[in-house]
Amino acid sequence: MKVAEGRVTTADFRRWKEEGRPVTMLTAYDFPTARLLDEAGIDAILVGDSVGNVVLGYDSTLPVTMEEMLHHTRAVARGASRALVIGDMPFLSYQVSTAEAVRNAGRFLKEAGAQAVKLEGGQEVAGTVKAIVNSGIPVMGHIGLTPQYVHQLGGYRVQGRQAEAARRLVSDAVSLAQAGVFAIVLECVPAEVAKKITATIPVPTIGIGAGVDCDGQVLVTHDLLGLYGGFSPKFAKRYANLVEEIKRALEAFRAEVLGREFPGPEHSFSMPAEELAEFLKE
Ligand code: KIV
Repeated sequence: MKVAEGRVTTADFRRWKEEGRPVTMLTAYDFPTARLLDEAGIDAILVGDSVGNVVLGYDSTLPVTMEEMLHHTRAVARGASRALVIGDMPFLSYQVSTAEAVRNAGRFLKEAGAQAVKLEGGQEVAGTVKAIVNSGIPVMGHIGLTPQYVHQLGGYRVQGRQAEAARRLVSDAVSLAQAGVFAIVLECVPAEVAKKITATIPVPTIGIGAGVDCDGQVLVTHDLLGLYGGFSPKFAKRYANLVEEIKRALEAFRAEVLGREFPGPEHSFSMPAEELAEFLKE
């Protein structure tokens, strides 16, 4: 696959950490959104398994399959020429065996046009991360609230509030960095813990609900745009309210069709006069 000129690379991530330049990352699951993010200068596009909740209507990320992830990653890759495209490895695509994990990670690059993958977990996945990285595939880690482990965590809640749990997160981050990740998402952890991890490891931390001291920030784009009618977490700042805007447009369309105001002459076609006369002849 051709690397677009000016494409963000994992080396940029590390350099930006050294320079203190924050990394911007957002989710996308389709071509038009990817193009908008790319044009806005967002550094990395995560094809998150949050596609399950946000787009596919599942009530968690657990049912999301490799085929669904590859389908959405392909669409995003076609829309992104500068941003680094990261495919999120779905539940059970990397937990069963190392060989399966490497093969599935490789599919994101080989078949879908991603430049990297992300997977959830700490020390317990460090061996898997190392094997994927050794195969030439950049890996982003993800610790803290890891939605694929929701049933083990006992719900979607802030992680690392107790000192011992916070220390475990720090050692998870160190293990992942030693295994070769190029960055780590910290989801829903106290800002103090994120700050400590950020100061401890040499690769960037990308926070979501992890405070301002991370090396970068990520949000689910649907949350940021107010494009998702469902639950929106405390950390998800809404920069627009597209649900309201879309509702307004849909209601206006319905009313104009019922009132025969749409389509107007400017949205219609007509025949040349002579052709019309001929057409109307008995
Ligand atoms: O799936 C996803 O969108 C994610 C982000 C919340 C980091 O993992």
